[in-house]
Amino acid sequence: MSEALANLLNETRQFPPPAELAANANVTVDAYAEAAGDRLAFWAEQAGRLAWAKQWDQVLDWSNPPFAKWFVGGRLNVAYNCLDRHVEAGLGDRVAIHWEGEPGDTRTITYADLHRMTCQAANALTELGVTAGDRVAIYLPMVPEAAVAMLACARIGATHSVVFGGFSADALTNRIQDATAKVVITADGGYRRGKPSALKPTVDEAVANCPSVEHVLVVRRTGEEVAWTAKDLWWHQTVEQASTEHAAEPFDAEHPLFILYTSGTTARPKGILHTTGGYLTQVSYTAHAVFDLKPETDVYWCTADIGWVTGHSYIVYGPLANGATQVMYEGTPDTPHKGRFWEIVDKYQVSILYTAPTLIRTMMKWGDDIPAGFDLSSLRLLGSVGEPINPEAWMWYRQHVGGGELPVVDTWWQTETGAIMISPLPGVTETKPGSAMTPLPGIVADVVDDQGQSVPNGGGGYLVLREPWPSMLRTIWGDDNRFVETYWSRFEGMYFAGDGAKKDDDGHIWLLGRVDDVMLVSGHNISTTEVESALVSHPSVAEAAVVGATDPTTGQAIVAFAIPRGTTDTAGEAGEKLIAELRNHVAKTLGPIAKPRQILLVAELPKTRSGKIMRRLLRDVAENRSLGDVTTLQDSSVMELISSGMGGGKSDED
Ligand code: WT7
Repeated sequence: MSEALANLLNETRQFPPPAELAANANVTVDAYAEAAGDRLAFWAEQAGRLAWAKQWDQVLDWSNPPFAKWFVGGRLNVAYNCLDRHVEAGLGDRVAIHWEGEPGDTRTITYADLHRMTCQAANALTELGVTAGDRVAIYLPMVPEAAVAMLACARIGATHSVVFGGFSADALTNRIQDATAKVVITADGGYRRGKPSALKPTVDEAVANCPSVEHVLVVRRTGEEVAWTAKDLWWHQTVEQASTEHAAEPFDAEHPLFILYTSGTTARPKGILHTTGGYLTQVSYTAHAVFDLKPETDVYWCTADIGWVTGHSYIVYGPLANGATQVMYEGTPDTPHKGRFWEIVDKYQVSILYTAPTLIRTMMKWGDDIPAGFDLSSLRLLGSVGEPINPEAWMWYRQHVGGGELPVVDTWWQTETGAIMISPLPGVTETKPGSAMTPLPGIVADVVDDQGQSVPNGGGGYLVLREPWPSMLRTIWGDDNRFVETYWSRFEGMYFAGDGAKKDDDGHIWLLGRVDDVMLVSGHNISTTEVESALVSHPSVAEAAVVGATDPTTGQAIVAFAIPRGTTDTAGEAGEKLIAELRNHVAKTLGPIAKPRQILLVAELPKTRSGKIMRRLLRDVAENRSLGDVTTLQDSSVMELISSGMGGGKSDED
């Protein structure tokens, strides 16, 4: 029988936690045994970190899988847990959000401020007729009002559906219609790349086709002129005039908290539904455990947009439930200069940084001297999420951002899982660059073959979750069948994540990319991630994407697109030489089976708005097919560039 997924990359570096962090870590090694001994008791204990208005009767009802109920009969209010209880505990003056606008304007928002703002928004939404169970669409830039809008919905039991501010009118229309949202919360615009970038016209276009929408609340951010409709209301004339008093009413633990449409690169978006008690339990616990968050002293910064699940779970709900102080940044990492992130770390003395591999690889491309120009000594922990992090990008992060000594936690999870599932514990785990290591305490993950049999150490296959977890999606909004089919039908009794993975010789888990991207070369299933990591391990490569293109001899052949590091010479013969060197480098690192047929040196790669490489488009380029819909691309000129590189098959880096 052939292997489900080849295991080619062998990583031997390993880093123990810093002694001081280990000695003071929020979570110690005992948590694993405790959770393994009684998983439900473990999660009940974590739920106890929250304030419940009514205690649950049962931790988990799994009598009708895959439809789970967690903390059955319990009642709580999410906004109360994120705000009121901290204010009541005397922490009202603690900074909740250090907000930094892209133009450099700032706001300092304490827990008492955020509580007042949320109460006002809750009152205003109630005044507009929004009641528990109604849906509210949120389409905002990275301004504090985005968090306020989400918390206000949670406070009154309305279900929010945040739509990333970069999405088109069509995407917004589909999402508003699918959820039949009653109110839309937006802004005139936000700042991006040094200029105001309008949002309101997109909302106007969408709302014209959305009869469910009764009101549109508009935050004034840029001050640019906007068209006005009968449904529109200014935030500052409604919310900011409302009472700052609001009593939070508790809701059932299974009350819908939010819908978030997945950012998939193909197919109709799925409205992932998350509920109240289990979700808040797991995001709160994981922020505490994985980031070792010390709310009294840490300054935490997650660079994600609030429009993705990372922003929901690790900007809004996880950190605020823990009473953390965090930085929120409106803009792009290279405005007005490529050191903006490091300047922010220095300015706010950020101690915990959570970002994405795509950003880390971009920083590698820009050059080591940029982070070196700032004081990053406040940092004590680094996190990564969103894609597999190549071992060399991990090492760069540790070296050039972490001063060669900070722990890096590579956190695997999904919109669907709601919270972190597989990750090192920073005070416990001896990390390996590129591996998410082990499931967190209370999580049961595995790698299985085609038949759903657990693969032995050293084997590759499909990542599954064997037991329900508190922050799991409850369904796809309005489509239970699709929920069952997509996630619970591939393997009997297991959640199928859609990711390839392997267990190394120690049983540690390595994520190998989406199974749809796996390449079949001469009968071997080869992961895109492993070949990309081999390319990135060459000192001249910052980022790479590989795809399988139809090939008459091998079935599929590996075609690679590589972005050279800052100073690499790729003109003329130097480019040809580098390409030959890279092909040999991959063959040497992974074996001759993984040697790319072709390598193209490029300046950019096509990515989704959340930063994931769009391999489907690259496959089309590699096979010289037409490009189809590229409207979701970050920059469509990228594609022109890449396809023009096909002609001579050599460098177009200049
Ligand atoms: C997919 C989920 C998780 C929040 C942001 C993305 C990939 C995510 C990792 C990681 C390898 C990762 C997977 C996953 N992914 N984190 N640490 N290592 N792959 O949420 O848009 O729902 O995407 O992102 O392929 O299935 P999402």
